[in-house]
Amino acid sequence: MKILILNGPNLNLLGRREPDIYGHRDYAALTAYIGETCRRIGAEYEVFQTNHEGVLVDMIQGALETGVDAIVLNPAAYTHTSIAIADALRAVEIPTAEVHLSDVDAREPYRRISYAGEACVATFKGKGFESYGEAICYMAEYVRNSKDAH
Ligand code: DQA
Repeated sequence: MKILILNGPNLNLLGRREPDIYGHRDYAALTAYIGETCRRIGAEYEVFQTNHEGVLVDMIQGALETGVDAIVLNPAAYTHTSIAIADALRAVEIPTAEVHLSDVDAREPYRRISYAGEACVATFKGKGFESYGEAICYMAEYVRNSKDAH
């Protein structure tokens, strides 16, 4: 079981970036949390952050070659703008969970649109790091269930 965790723009600035919304813990703390969660459930994982939309598309396409079973994706601001990322998810057909630290539906109206989310099997939002924890566990279960069904 291999899970690819992808993080979009400005998430590298966690801790210093709008802490009232995103919390005081930094990106290294997030990757440590993700690592602990994946080890606890016995999943292999890779975690990656980029500020570039096309790099996220490349990473999603690249997942076809590296035996990734599921993706956990926080596209950050590209959530609300990127049809390219949504199309890449549909193209590879690797089951993906959308994740947000904040509750995007309770913020500015433009954050309620999620193109990526339309190509995902589930969305986890508004729980800080725990949004990632829930998404990782959900996708591990999702993959196990779909392997059993075949
Ligand atoms: C975010 C929410 C987005 O609206 C925002 O642009 C981000 C982070 C979140 O994790 O809450 O950069 O994806």
